[in-house]
Amino acid sequence: MQWQGRCPGCSAWHTLEEQGEPPDATAARARAAKVVPLGEAAAEPPERAPTGSREIDRVLGGGVVPGGVVLLGGDPGIGKSTLLLQVAARWIATGRTALYVAGEESPEQIALRAARLGRDVQSLPVCTDPDVDAVAAAMEADPPDLVIVDSIQTLRSSRSTSAAGSVPQLRDVTTRLTDVARARGIATILVGHVTRSGAIAGPRVVEHLVDTVLYLEGEPGTPLRTIRPVKNRFGSTLEVALLAMGERGLRDAASDIVAAITTGAPHGRRAVGVAIGALLEGTRSFPVEVQALAADAAYGPARLTTNGVDSGRVQMLAAILERYAGDTVAGQDLYLNIVGGLRLTDPTCDLAVLASIASSLRRSPLSADVFVAGEVGLTGELRPVAGLQARLLGGSRAGFRHAVVPESGHVDPVEGLTLHRCSRLEEALERLFDIEPRR
Ligand code: TYD
Ligand code: MG
Repeated sequence: MQWQGRCPGCSAWHTLEEQGEPPDATAARARAAKVVPLGEAAAEPPERAPTGSREIDRVLGGGVVPGGVVLLGGDPGIGKSTLLLQVAARWIATGRTALYVAGEESPEQIALRAARLGRDVQSLPVCTDPDVDAVAAAMEADPPDLVIVDSIQTLRSSRSTSAAGSVPQLRDVTTRLTDVARARGIATILVGHVTRSGAIAGPRVVEHLVDTVLYLEGEPGTPLRTIRPVKNRFGSTLEVALLAMGERGLRDAASDIVAAITTGAPHGRRAVGVAIGALLEGTRSFPVEVQALAADAAYGPARLTTNGVDSGRVQMLAAILERYAGDTVAGQDLYLNIVGGLRLTDPTCDLAVLASIASSLRRSPLSADVFVAGEVGLTGELRPVAGLQARLLGGSRAGFRHAVVPESGHVDPVEGLTLHRCSRLEEALERLFDIEPRR
């Protein structure tokens, strides 16, 4: 035996745990495990309790499940505490009981935030005890319908001697809370901060202990927030929630995104340099506004500046545009921006990026009635689009009347939407600039 404070495997401090002797193997053999036929297991869908936010309920599969444990991860400052205080306020407003376990902030700070959110949380029971056994005992003594723990990194378990926030502590804390939640049928939401340093462990190390794992994400400095499920025992992991952070907390943002784009074109044409693509978030599709500005590179070599889209991808697309559509990109400074803090990670938005650059280079605006979708290959071919039908429906619902999309792939017609199916970039741009605005 020797003293060790640092893991020889990953070099992290305070992550080692003392383990007792392994139990006697012969004793374990004495008892056989109980085995049941699968048919005896209940296949009823779990009961759901809506949280009152359509977007959050969407990713949860309809609401929280009694006895189900949700882990909400995210960077510090992204809005986890704000989100959960809003959930708690809505929850108690419908006459259900809740317990808010706060380790990050004092009750005064929580009350201040509630005032800013314009929420009445006078009757919300708040607990600031850092001892997980005490919290578990409070949950058992008078089980509420919902428990919110902000955050698991601030709770401590006496069963582990390592420092608060270390991996073994986080596992102990989460296991203890999960056990009580399941035994008492309490819907539970745990906050876990994503951490950059190794001193405090992040939510990843407890993902396997909970039923549902959600991540709250967003670009710093922009209002848009998304919640993506990475694991969901009670629902799909395909849905994405779209929220916007404002002066009074987070609100459902799906309709805002559409409204911002469809009201932005007063004269039947977009501004020069603007093209609309179709973003697929989960199973829903939204129009996304791509802005480009091409300007003569007056000083030195031409530069490329992008916001919300990978600059390597744009460089490649600019080369394709120059080669196959005959636009001159060389010698131009190029600025690309995706409006609203959205990020394009999906190559299906290639055609929208190219259309915005072409519009700026040609000083020619596009009709406000059209959106585009399509990945563009290195030979200038338009490649098939994943989820094309959903994108067409999303565009049509947002009021668009024309869509320029690749030739390949079957789709059912969408009422009120004229499809322009093209196999090559140059053909797609020609059709696109020919579409007349509505009078
Ligand atoms: P917070 O919920 O404290 O983040 P987390 O718990 O994930 O660390 O959110 C903090 C940020 O949100 C902070 O920069 C202030 C901002 N905010 C708003 O913009 N509007 C609001 O109504 C509230 C309450 C916070
Ligand atoms: Mg917080």
